[in-house]
Amino acid sequence: MKKIFSGVQPTGTVTLGNYIGAFRQFTTLQDEYDCIFCIVDQHAITVPQDRLELRKTIRSLAALYLAAGIDPKKAILFIQSEVPAHAQAGWMMQCISYIGELERMTQFKDKSSGKDGVSASLLTYPPLMAADILLYQTDIVPVGDDQKQHVELTRDLAERFNKRYNDVLTIPEIRLPKNGARIKALQDPLKKMSKSDPNKKSTISLLDTPKEIEKKIKSAVTDSEGVVAYDVANKPGVSNLLTIEAALTNETIEALVAKYQGVGYGDFKASVAQAVIEHLQPIQERYEALLTSEELDIILDEGALKAQAVASKTLKKMENAMGLGRKR
Ligand code: TYM
Repeated sequence: MKKIFSGVQPTGTVTLGNYIGAFRQFTTLQDEYDCIFCIVDQHAITVPQDRLELRKTIRSLAALYLAAGIDPKKAILFIQSEVPAHAQAGWMMQCISYIGELERMTQFKDKSSGKDGVSASLLTYPPLMAADILLYQTDIVPVGDDQKQHVELTRDLAERFNKRYNDVLTIPEIRLPKNGARIKALQDPLKKMSKSDPNKKSTISLLDTPKEIEKKIKSAVTDSEGVVAYDVANKPGVSNLLTIEAALTNETIEALVAKYQGVGYGDFKASVAQAVIEHLQPIQERYEALLTSEELDIILDEGALKAQAVASKTLKKMENAMGLGRKR
C-alpha cells in the first residue's frame, strides 16, 4: 500500500482552513493508504511557546484529529517529539540543505522579515519537515497550498541525498484538496485563513460555537454586487464562502452557484454558516468526549511506538549511507 504522511502544528486553535486543507483529506485517505499523521510539536517551538499552553494544545490537537475522523485502527497518530528519529534525521537533512534555498522559503520570509531575534530554527524548519516525511518512505503528502514549497524542497533534498550517498529515500508527491487548498481570511479574502491572524473575525476555529460561526460568516467581507458567483480574481470573498460550502458538503461550486441564483448575500451567508455549523457539530461533540478520555493517551502511546519502529529503519539506512556511527 502507498504511504501517506502529514502533520499539523499544535499552535493556537485548529482553523477551518486547516480542516479543509488537511484534516478532511486525511479522513478519506486512511481507507486507501497506509497513513501516518503527526502532531508536530518540535515545529511549534521555532517560535516561543508557553509551556503549559503548548501541552494543552498538543492534547487538544490529538483529540481533534480523532474527532475529525482519524481511526487509530487504520492510521498511526503520534507526537513528533516522542519519536526521536525526527530530530536525528532533521539534523542530517539540515546538513545537506543550502542556506540560500532555505532563505528563499516564502514562509521563512513572512515570519522573519522586519523581526528581531529570529530563531535559527525558523530557517531550518523545512529540513525538519523533510525528515518527517522521508522517514516513512512517504509516497503522498496531503497538505494545503501554503506547504507546496516545503514539499518541493523535501523532494529536492531526497533526490540530493539519494544521489550523493545511496538510493534510500522515496521521493514524495504533494496532494492538494480539490476544493479549498487555500481557504482565505474572512475579513481579507486575499490572505489565507491563519491561526495567527490578529483579527479573530477572520478565522473560524473548529471549536467555535454556532453563534460565533454565524457572526463571523455574516460579517465576512464580500463585495457590493449582490450576485453570488464564483470569480476568485474579482469576487474573492464570495468565492471563498462558496469554496468553504463546497468543501464541506461535497457539492460542486457550479451546483452551489445555481442554488444561490437570485439569493441575496444575507441569505447566502446564513446558508453557508448553517452548512459549517452542521458539519462541525458532530466533530465538536466527539472532541469533548475524547479530550478527557484515557483512550487518547493509549492511542498516542501506541502511535509513538509504531512510528518509531518504521522511522528507525529509515534512519539506520540514512546513517549507514552517510557513514555515521558504526555499521550495524
Ligand atoms: P500548519 O500546522 O500550519 O497547517 C496544517 C495543515 O493545514 C493546511 N492549511 C490550510 N489549508 C487550506 N487553507 C488554509 N487557509 C490553510 N492553513 C493551513 C496546511 O497546508 C497544512 O496542510 N509545516 C506544516 C506542518 C508539517 C508538515 C510536516 C506537514 C510539519 N511537518 C510534514 C506535512 C508533512 C505546517 O506548518 O502546517
